[in-house]
Amino acid sequence: MDRLRIRGGSPLIGEIPISGAKNAALPLMAAALLSSDGLTLENVPELADIVSMSALLKELGADIQATPSPDGRGRRLFIRAERFTSFEAPYDIVRKMRASVLVLGPLVARGGEAKVSLPGGCAIGNRPVDLHLMALEELGAEIELEAGYIHARAPKGLKGGRIAFPMVSVGATENALMAAVLAHGETTILNAAREPEIGDLAACLIAMGAKIGGVGTDTLRITGVARLGHAVHPVIADRIETGTFAMAAALTGGDVELIGGQLDHVEAAAKVLASAGVAFTATARGFRVARANGRLEGVDMMTEPYPGFPTDLQAQFMALMSTAKGAAMVTETIFENRFMHVPELARMGANINVHGASAMIRGVERLKGAPVMATDLRASVSLVLAGLAAEGETVVNRIYHLDRGYERVERKLTACGAEIVRERET
Ligand code: EPZ
Repeated sequence: MDRLRIRGGSPLIGEIPISGAKNAALPLMAAALLSSDGLTLENVPELADIVSMSALLKELGADIQATPSPDGRGRRLFIRAERFTSFEAPYDIVRKMRASVLVLGPLVARGGEAKVSLPGGCAIGNRPVDLHLMALEELGAEIELEAGYIHARAPKGLKGGRIAFPMVSVGATENALMAAVLAHGETTILNAAREPEIGDLAACLIAMGAKIGGVGTDTLRITGVARLGHAVHPVIADRIETGTFAMAAALTGGDVELIGGQLDHVEAAAKVLASAGVAFTATARGFRVARANGRLEGVDMMTEPYPGFPTDLQAQFMALMSTAKGAAMVTETIFENRFMHVPELARMGANINVHGASAMIRGVERLKGAPVMATDLRASVSLVLAGLAAEGETVVNRIYHLDRGYERVERKLTACGAEIVRERET
């Protein structure tokens, strides 16, 4: 297992290229199962989760060819499942990556059957999949839970229906959308998630021949088609990576241009950061982030579904607020257990008190380097950010989480002057 050794204190100065979005690429890869002609994805990031999804698709019968993307950004994947050789997403793959559940909709829609291991809980909460199942049932699938597996069947194909989600779920919206594009007749999805990754998935499905209206709103209207064809689709820039590096620049008092970063996809976070004293300037290639003047001010923040402040930036925001002037209240409304980074930040001198779903951060002058342990992907990167700003040395252990979602993170940071090295744990 690798770890990162960071010597803090250098402001990040320079430019950072933003990779393709992990959370867009994963559902797009699952969508390739919808067409026997296959799908070409460009700007796919090189990450452990992409490797896991590739392994799962191969298990189901897909052939995958990976080459560099023509513009040099990320990889190009040609994924083609001419026919399925299996309908099963086994426990061993699903337990490593929850997004495996995204093959459920495409498999039932095109193949009439899917057997997917129930993912179980994870480090950030309970995370049930009831809404995914409810959506498929609305489209006529028969679902049974057997020995830890979801077994979904629709031997005569899915039928259009009305799916009204009681709460916003990114994954359930994606599964419902991928199932509905091949269902007979019309489907309406109400209270659909509006994350840019959903818009990217819809754009790709439309390029493959799907009929989808209402993209970007919370009501999606789909008219099923008999088959989908091949398309070439570039994955959108990763808004969470964008927000993470924006906060890294602000925390270290640096000045960084985020190449390919889309400011409109991180608007809520940029607004909160701006009120704390971070300056954003649009550039021809993305945007620049710098601290406007001196120490940041503490500001309150609450996570919400898009277009609100993303839960995937909450841990990083806490690291940022830990050295701000005054206090900041952070409320997590999406996941019930997403404060695992708090005791680790406290080891570095942060003053944080958790009360239920809220955390009160009282800014300290300086964080101090310490050995810390990463618990999940975004918690891990918040510790890296804290380490970059801290006095002395920080060692972030168990960084395999980080490799699930951040492409070449230490290389990108080193190029901006950070002192950070990867070491093999013995
Ligand atoms: C996606 O997870 C992301 N993952 C997560 O990113 C992200 O944190 C999350 O959306 C919220 O933005 C991918 O896109 C691969 P949800 P997802 O369904 O789809 C509850 C990261 O760090 N819920 O929108 O699993 C659920 O428990 C990851 O990159 C149900 O109750 O999230 C949560 O409280 C972590 N029943 C809320 O909804 C269901 O059937 C939102 O979850 C489904 C969800």
